[in-house]
Amino acid sequence: MTVVMGIETSCDETGVGFVRDGELLGDALASSIDEHVRFGGVVPEIAARAHVQAMVPTMQAALDDAGLAWPDVGAVAVTAGPGLATALHVGVAAAKATALGLGVPLYGVHHLAGHAAADTLVHGPLPERSIVLIVSGGHTSLLLVRDLVRTPIVHLSDTLDDAAGEAFDKVARLLGLPYPGGPSIDRTAREGDPTAVRFTRPLMGQRDPALGFSFSGLKSAVARYVARPRDPGVSTADVAASFQECVADTVVTKALRACRQEDVDTLVIVGGVAANSRVRSLAEERCAEAGIELRVPPMRLCTDNGAMIAAIGDLLVRDGAPPSVADLGARSSVPLELARLG
Ligand code: KG4
Ligand code: ZN
Repeated sequence: MTVVMGIETSCDETGVGFVRDGELLGDALASSIDEHVRFGGVVPEIAARAHVQAMVPTMQAALDDAGLAWPDVGAVAVTAGPGLATALHVGVAAAKATALGLGVPLYGVHHLAGHAAADTLVHGPLPERSIVLIVSGGHTSLLLVRDLVRTPIVHLSDTLDDAAGEAFDKVARLLGLPYPGGPSIDRTAREGDPTAVRFTRPLMGQRDPALGFSFSGLKSAVARYVARPRDPGVSTADVAASFQECVADTVVTKALRACRQEDVDTLVIVGGVAANSRVRSLAEERCAEAGIELRVPPMRLCTDNGAMIAAIGDLLVRDGAPPSVADLGARSSVPLELARLG
């Protein structure tokens, strides 16, 4: 059985993980989040420089965590897109150097396929058909997934504008909460009343696309709300909780609609916003009521990490997929159809 190394550098996390035959052997993560806080968002050049600095120490830390040595590594998988171009290049270059140096195959993979594969590390192989809700900083999509590697993934819907995580980050900024906005809003909302402000659920009208997502109008609604003289008794925590409730209600409602529409009884929720406590609890409640099996990875596997890239690499290796070409490049924007890129 091949040990697959996974390398992730699409945004501000340098992740390295090792997976063999569906089992996570060990991983390590370095983050440059602290360096972006004062800018209120990720600065690509800073992220890329941090990846260059963190790459080799993170590789070594992941090897140590897994109790492995370099000769044990049998294949290298790397996020080749989508993401920040300068950041992706660091990972792709490191992966090529590693694969060449060790004389092992290289697999460029799609970041979002990695998010979905993360769940298989804890809950085992996906069933024959599942609905995957991806809610991350850059994407919000409902997918009909079969095996992740061989059969093309069907997009049932993609957000028309902002992604769910982007909405969390922008709304946090409006509320004066620190970057990254998702965890800040999640924390602040614990003290708030989710029914304090009734934000209109986006694209939930009779004539709206049943599975469609749009979050920029919601962000504007929060902006208008906070610009008005504050209703007496409504705190920042109340606004945060009300916004969070609106996003959770919207994404969970649409994910369950997708399950019904496609007659699928497994829902997998992945990506950074899957770490949100209300998204998780509401999905649990509603899936239990609907008799849908819910799979959500543990929080540390929801946000970007190297283990998820090793997981999708491992699925490709076991499926006998051909390695990527030697001139594999990074693609900042690339639709998810198949897990393997280039
Ligand atoms: O999947 P991810 O780590 O990176 C991308 O591929 O984009 O997702 C990052 C996004 C950010 O927008 C962040 O604010 C959001 O996930 N996020 C959360 C939480 N933790 C991270 N959003 C809501 N609640 C959280 N607890
Ligand atoms: Zn991600």
